[in-house]
Amino acid sequence: MNYKTIEDVPIKSRRVLVRADFNVPLDAKGNVADETRLLKTLPTIRSLITRKGRVILMSHLGRPEGKKSPKFSLKAVADRLSKLLKKPVKFVPDCIGAGVKKVTAKMKPGDVALLENLRFHPEEEQNDVKFAKALSSLGDLYVNDAFGAAHRAHASTVGITRFLPAVAGLLLAKEIGYFDRVLENPKRPFVAILGGAKVTDKIKVIENLLLKVDCLVIGGAMAYTFLKARGYRIGNSKFDEEGFETAKRLLEHVKQKNLQLILPQDHVIAETVTVDSKSDTSDVNIPDGWIGVDIGPKTTERFRTIVGKARTVVWNGPLGVFEIEAFSNGTRQIAKALAALKETTTVIGGGETAAAVAKLGLDSQMSHVSTGGGASLEYLEGKKLPGIEALCTSKEVQV
Ligand code: 3PG
Repeated sequence: MNYKTIEDVPIKSRRVLVRADFNVPLDAKGNVADETRLLKTLPTIRSLITRKGRVILMSHLGRPEGKKSPKFSLKAVADRLSKLLKKPVKFVPDCIGAGVKKVTAKMKPGDVALLENLRFHPEEEQNDVKFAKALSSLGDLYVNDAFGAAHRAHASTVGITRFLPAVAGLLLAKEIGYFDRVLENPKRPFVAILGGAKVTDKIKVIENLLLKVDCLVIGGAMAYTFLKARGYRIGNSKFDEEGFETAKRLLEHVKQKNLQLILPQDHVIAETVTVDSKSDTSDVNIPDGWIGVDIGPKTTERFRTIVGKARTVVWNGPLGVFEIEAFSNGTRQIAKALAALKETTTVIGGGETAAAVAKLGLDSQMSHVSTGGGASLEYLEGKKLPGIEALCTSKEVQV
C-alpha cells in the first residue's frame, strides 16, 4: 500500500498531531481498566519523543454523541500515559480553539500533550471540513496510529489529511502489514477460525475468507445457526433467524465449490448460560431444553489438529461463552494450540478474541493481536478502510 510512516519523514521540532485510538474501558472510579491500546501506541509516541517532536495526541473515547460529558473524558488516559512514559503528559481540556492553541504553542521538543475527547464535538463524526481544519492548525505533520478507528471516516481520521502531510504511526503500519500479509500472501495451509453470535455480523467476512483460505472453521454461537441449516437439532441454543437463509445459501455455495467449512461435531451444553448451571456434553444434535455453550471435546481435538497443520491462522470470535470458566475450554485449547505454533503466522482479531487471549496470558505468543474490533472485521471483509485510504491519497509528504 502506498503510504509513508513516521520513519520516512523528519520529526525534529515539528508539531506532530497523532490520532490514536485510546478508546479504552474505564472502571467505576474512572481509571483506565485495560491499557492494551495505550501500550501498543507507546512505540510511536516514544519514537516521536526521542526524535524531538512536539507530540500532540488526540483520540475519541466512547460515544458521547457530540456532547461534553465527564464520564467520557480522556483525563484518566493522560494520567496513565504519564505513568507509562515516565514523563508528564499535559492534558488539554478541549481539542480545538484559542485555549488549545495557546497551550500547544508553548510545547518544547520532546513534550507530550493529550487533547480532550474529539467526539465532544459533533463535527468530528460528521467529518466536518472546518473542524478538520481547526484540528490541523495545531500541527505541522499528521500521524494516524489509530487502527481501531480506521474504519471511521471522521474529521480526525480522514478530513484532516486534506490539510496536513499525513503518515502512518508504527502501530497502524504494523496492523496493516499483518492483515495484508495474511490476506494477500498467506503461507499455506491458511486456516480461519470464526466465532461470535450472529451470522449476519460475520457474513461478509465469511464470504471474503472463503475465497482465500484452505479451511474455514466455525465455532461459537454462530455455529448453531449453520448446524440448523444443515438439518441438525440445536435445542435452545442461540439461533440467528435473520441469518438463517444466508447460512443455508453459504452452505450450498460451499458444497457446490467443494470448499472446506468445518462445523462443530459435538458440544458442551448447559441448561442456562450461568455460572452455576448444570452442564453436559452432547453429540452434534443438541437435546431439547439444552443450550450449546462451547465446542465439545471431539471438536476441540479436530480444530487443534487443523490449526496444528496451518502456516497461517486468522482468528476472530471466541468459540464458546468464554466469560464463564466452565464454558471456556474450547477457546482456551485453541488459543494454547495457536500459541504453541512457532512457524505459523497467527493473527488475532481485536475485541473479544483479543481479550480472551490476553486473559489467558498468551497474547505475546501470537504473531499479532489486533487493537481493532470493528476495524479488523472490516479489513477481513476485504473493505478498504477510509483512515488508511486517506493516508494513501494524502498530499505529498515533504521530506
Ligand atoms: C473501537 O473500539 O472499536 C474503536 O475505538 C471504534 O469505536 P466506535 O465503534 O465507537 O467508532
